[in-house]
Amino acid sequence: MTKSVFASAALFSWYDRYGRDLPWRRRWPELAPAYHVWLSEIMLQQTVVTAVIPYFLKFIRRWPCIEDLADAPLDDVLAAWAGLGYYARARNLHKAAKFVAEECRGQFPQTDDDLRALPGVGPYTAGAISAIAFGQRSVVVDGNIERVMARFFGISTPLPAAKAEIGRHYAAIMPDERPSDFPQALMDFANAVCTPKGANCQPCPFASHCRAFAAGKVEAFPIKPAKKVKETRRGIAFVARARSGEVFLVRRQESGMLGGMLAFPSIGWATRGEDFDSNAALDAAPFPAAWRRLDHRVQHVFTHFAVEMEVAVADIAAPVDAVGAAVAGDWKLVTPADLPSLMRKVWKVAHKATAELEMAGLSD
Ligand code: ADE
Repeated sequence: MTKSVFASAALFSWYDRYGRDLPWRRRWPELAPAYHVWLSEIMLQQTVVTAVIPYFLKFIRRWPCIEDLADAPLDDVLAAWAGLGYYARARNLHKAAKFVAEECRGQFPQTDDDLRALPGVGPYTAGAISAIAFGQRSVVVDGNIERVMARFFGISTPLPAAKAEIGRHYAAIMPDERPSDFPQALMDFANAVCTPKGANCQPCPFASHCRAFAAGKVEAFPIKPAKKVKETRRGIAFVARARSGEVFLVRRQESGMLGGMLAFPSIGWATRGEDFDSNAALDAAPFPAAWRRLDHRVQHVFTHFAVEMEVAVADIAAPVDAVGAAVAGDWKLVTPADLPSLMRKVWKVAHKATAELEMAGLSD
């Protein structure tokens, strides 16, 4: 575990040639604004770079500084986040923005401990912000860096137990120079060269010291625990549409799946073991109407389970009184972009079914 084994100079040469120009990035010795680094790191939790870029740009155009984000209504932030998933992140983002704007006079905390006090910031994100935004020599190990380390050092402990060992290796090879570029260079290298499948070892500047390469088992690392089979949960969503274009939506409870987001009323899928009796499903409709159950089901995969959702549609002349509904909700004029991905899919299926009815001349 010596510094000389891992040639960080070769990594920086690679990064200077092939590293990505991402909108939240600057190159050493310049440091990106902490607001941009924090926002991007929160968005990048569990989400790929290509999906994050348009959301990051939308947020910084709409809320150019942290005070603007802190002053925004939470509902606007949630609507802007719709489609990015893991909605607790958006609520924590807003809380953290308020904290920094109001309690820290807009100055981001700089140490890992102070950063970790912000809602939504765990050890990885704190390290990433302190290294990338403040040039500190922090340990930054995401899934990509984990892969490079596990291969290079041939770490035979399976994840997640290997994390501590990987962190120690990272600390040992971290160079003194370019502390903000080092983790980002490793991430890009992992993304382009040391990929999960089909790793491109031929031109890899580290292959001659890579234990996994020497063993001819690059893709066997990192060693992962046996995969659990994902359960499939079944449910039904109710899409009520008025001729005026409004749809009946609920705001989901803050704790739980799609927390705080606008959604069609639905049952059966959001909590483990939730009873779903398909025969009695229409009893859960938010109000009496001519509900049509569609044949086409929505498939959606979350990290820990899959959903197979039936869709029931009611096209009604005018919004029924929301106060009388069995489920607390409201009629709203929204677009699919305002909803989380599962509900966008529900919308699409409902919309297609109505279009087909109209084509067949069966709708009124
Ligand atoms: N994933 C998490 N943080 C990242 C960053 N700064 N650059 C690229 N990918 C990342």
